Amino acid sequence: MLFCTCKGQLRNNKKFFHAYFIQYKTYCVRVKILNFYEFLAENIEQIKRSSLYRKLRVFSSRSGPYVKYNGKKVIQVSSNNYLGLAGDVRLQRAVSEAVKKYGVGSTGSRLISGTHELHARLEEQIAELKGTERAIVFSSGYDANLGTLSALLGEDDAVYSDELNHASIIDGIRLSKAQKFIYKHCDVEHLRELLSENHYKYKLNLIVTDSIFSMDGNRAPLQEIVKLKECYGAVLFVDEAHSFGIYGPHGEGLVHELGIADKVDIQMGTLSKAAGSKGGYIAGSNDLIEYLANKSRAFIFSTAPAIPSIAASIEAVEIIKKAHNLRKKLHGNIKYLKKKLEEQKFNLIPSESAIFCIKFDDIEQTCQVSEQLLDKYNVMAFAIRPPTVEIPRIRLCTMALHEKSDLDYLVRSLSELLNLNRKV
Ligand SMILES: Cc1ncc(COP(=O)(O)O)c(C=O)c1O
Repeated sequence: MLFCTCKGQLRNNKKFFHAYFIQYKTYCVRVKILNFYEFLAENIEQIKRSSLYRKLRVFSSRSGPYVKYNGKKVIQVSSNNYLGLAGDVRLQRAVSEAVKKYGVGSTGSRLISGTHELHARLEEQIAELKGTERAIVFSSGYDANLGTLSALLGEDDAVYSDELNHASIIDGIRLSKAQKFIYKHCDVEHLRELLSENHYKYKLNLIVTDSIFSMDGNRAPLQEIVKLKECYGAVLFVDEAHSFGIYGPHGEGLVHELGIADKVDIQMGTLSKAAGSKGGYIAGSNDLIEYLANKSRAFIFSTAPAIPSIAASIEAVEIIKKAHNLRKKLHGNIKYLKKKLEEQKFNLIPSESAIFCIKFDDIEQTCQVSEQLLDKYNVMAFAIRPPTVEIPRIRLCTMALHEKSDLDYLVRSLSELLNLNRKV
């Protein structure tokens, strides 16, 4: 009896394995089991075939208007080092002193062992400059956007976001459960329509926009957006990544320059661009900061920024407050470069900042121009391509430390190169 049962079981098991094996074979044929390394290689090949391959360009000098690349001196027109503070000796000195006194690492997350008096000082200093009750510092601007939007927006809320907002805003919204409404770039009428149709359905309506768009260089229509925010009782979040340090009487940002800072509920900025250091901040009411310190996962579950970046940021904010001459020089360069580029009738995206973009019809040509600028003319300017933007472009950024002769050289090089390309 026992023998019979075992034989029966054996037969059943065989049947089962046979059926399983057939199923597995069909699955393999259908899906073609993924080989991880083949998957990576195929993807990279595909990226290369579409001219979308990106490689890291390694420079080896102090950051400034010129950098050393591949052993040669090249003019830098692609950095966000607007005021030149990334290579400033005052920041270097502040970092050396802080490291000598406190060491390097912050040793833990902000809510555990990571809050040093330098973090507290930087947050007080930012709040004072921005004229808000409080500020909170994140490890990067990316984290500040991601950590704030995902913490604030729940499933009963709606977010209204410009279609060209920075990736960190898009990712923050993706992480939230809110209903999202994407309005056409800088289109106040579209935003008004979306708000009017939807605002009453949600607990919180949050409008979010870059102040200066990083890949176009134009400004958001902030004054009109403020009117809509007030009309529909919405909350306004402005990303000042490309305006902090540059606009406003003391470099506070564009919303201060426009006199609307008190209408903006959440002022976000980065310490990684004009401030020449690393980190991001949110400035706003006491309760906003308390909420984020308790709810923002990017703030809570990450080690606090290290001493060198905090010490550099403190020094940078002090400099920014009084950097009237640097700002004057930068704005002079912006005006000069704009005029020179416009004279050449390049296919420019209208700019209202230090960022200028020349559009191209195809990705390959954009990449070629960027390569040739570097190889033949010693100009470091990058090709920006999909998926970052829809239309490929060369992005140029001027800084306070560029001389007029640098900008003349840049425009001459571009003009020569683009004429050559036209003739080919
Ligand atoms: C508009 C905008 N927001 C946020 C960020 C992210 O800032 P960070 O570089 O400090 O992470 C950037 C940086 O590229 C940006 O351009």
